[in-house]
Amino acid sequence: MENGNAAEKLVKIALSARDSAYAPYSGFKVGAALMTSGGEIYTGCNIENASYGLTCCAERVAVFKAVSEGQKDFAAIAVACGSGDFCSPCGACRQVLAEFGGSIKVYMCNHRGEYKVKTVSDLLPGFFSL
Ligand code: THU
Repeated sequence: MENGNAAEKLVKIALSARDSAYAPYSGFKVGAALMTSGGEIYTGCNIENASYGLTCCAERVAVFKAVSEGQKDFAAIAVACGSGDFCSPCGACRQVLAEFGGSIKVYMCNHRGEYKVKTVSDLLPGFFSL
């Protein structure tokens, strides 16, 4: 993503996707917005389950939605939490993002829409691949 406005737009969409989070167990709502290289955006939110281990993170929901609709080339993902902390993707989501490229930018946002940006390779150096 070339300019700050595009990043800010993606961050806003992630914050808004957070509203759909289903997080009755942790109360910790997360939103994600994944942008393809062509500029299309797929959103995700965390979806929890009474069988806790079946929970799916917001980032993976966004990736799985996009891939299931034929997308594989991603430029960036924004991830937003509801606190002042920058929302850092979990290890599983880092590996899932890495499947589609270490150069994907990850915008880690807080509830004010402030963010830090790193690439997937920065976040998961030496990620597993076949
Ligand atoms: N969660 C995400 O959605 N993304 C992450 O990268 C880390 C954690 C969710 C999973 C669970 O619903 C809640 O945050 C607390 O762990």
